[in-house]
Amino acid sequence: MDRIRIQGGARLNGAIPISGAKNAALPLMIASLLTSQTLTLENVPRLADVRLLLRILGNHGVDHMIAGKRPGELPTSGQTLKLEARNIVDTLAPYELVSRMRASFWVLAPLLARMGQAKVSLPGGCAIGTRPVDLLLQALESLGAKIDIEAGYVIASAPKGLVGGQIVFPKVTVGGTHVALMAASLARGSTVIHNAAREPEIVDLADCLTKMGARIQGAGGSTIEIEGVASLGGATHTVLPDRIETGTYAMAVAMTGGDVFLQGARPELLQSALDVLSRTGAQISSDAMGIRVRRNGGEIQPVDVMTDPFPGFPTDLQAQFMALMTRADGVTRITETIFENRFMHVQELARFGAKIHLEHDTAVVTGVRSLMGAPVMATDLRASVSLVIAALAAQGETIVHRVYHLDRGFEQLEQKLRDCGAEVERISGGD
Ligand code: EPZ
Repeated sequence: MDRIRIQGGARLNGAIPISGAKNAALPLMIASLLTSQTLTLENVPRLADVRLLLRILGNHGVDHMIAGKRPGELPTSGQTLKLEARNIVDTLAPYELVSRMRASFWVLAPLLARMGQAKVSLPGGCAIGTRPVDLLLQALESLGAKIDIEAGYVIASAPKGLVGGQIVFPKVTVGGTHVALMAASLARGSTVIHNAAREPEIVDLADCLTKMGARIQGAGGSTIEIEGVASLGGATHTVLPDRIETGTYAMAVAMTGGDVFLQGARPELLQSALDVLSRTGAQISSDAMGIRVRRNGGEIQPVDVMTDPFPGFPTDLQAQFMALMTRADGVTRITETIFENRFMHVQELARFGAKIHLEHDTAVVTGVRSLMGAPVMATDLRASVSLVIAALAAQGETIVHRVYHLDRGFEQLEQKLRDCGAEVERISGGD
């Protein structure tokens, strides 16, 4: 397994191209199961999760083609994927594949909507919390699906097709909303999703489905109305920029100091996080080409944060923000409201000399003058990158183990940081 070595202390200066959003690309790819025609997705990030999902979709009969690079294209330009599910050859998604990536469970919705049946392994536990799928299943039941759970598999059927209905989510769920959107697009009649997730990735999926012929109103708000259609067609869609990658690099600059332009980033996708960063003392400005983040001297100010569904502060930036606050001039309270166990980075940040203690769902961070490099390891994607942020500002060398977590969600991380002056290198092999 690869490791990353970081020599801390360099300020970040330069430009970082922002990739297409992982959490938009995955549901968009899954939406290819809804049609026999070609779905072309542009700006798809080159990530381990994307490669794994291609394998999973391939099992169901989705053919894919990855367009070659055009002359002059940068290595960081996203890839173009052509996905074609002319014939669904299998409606079974096995444990071996679904257990490796939770989002792949969402194939349940398009398989059921198009084929009237699907058998998908339960995704299982995950390092950031229990993460059940009850709300996703209830959404499908609201559209007339019969759901049974047998030997770890969800067996869903709707032999006469799904029927539009009222879907009321008792709590906001991104995956539940993706599933509801895909299923309702091919259901007979109208569906209303109440308390829908408002994340930009939901809007991106709704936009793509609309290009494919779906009739969707209100995506981006809490109530979404869908008028089902008999079939969907092909489309071409560009994946929106990754707001979590954007926020991660913005926090890295706030941590190390310097001046970095985040090319292609869109401030409206992460305004709450940018507002918090400004209050810590970073200077943020933006134009049509991207977002500029600067911090030149001065202490990092502590800012209390509570995670919330969009447009609130994203849970996927909580770990990175905690890394920043380890060097703040005072005490910060960071409250996690989305996942009950998303503090696995706390003990790893402590290896750098960070002072953090947990009070139920709140991490209390007392800023320290300096961090010291250390060997560290993380258990999930965002936690891993929080360790990279700490390492960039720490004195001495850090080795981050289990880099495969980073490869799941950050495209060309070392290259992007190196291009801005960081001392980062990948060491192949080891544990
Ligand atoms: C998506 O996960 C993202 N994943 C997560 O990003 C992100 O942290 C999360 O949304 C919240 O923003 C992808 O988009 C691929 P949820 P998802 O359903 O859809 C509870 C990353 O690092 N819940 O919105 O699985 C659940 O336990 C990942 O990129 C139920 O109780 O999250 C949680 O407490 C990690 N029952 C809350 O709802 C259900 O049936 C929100 O989860 C479903 C969810």
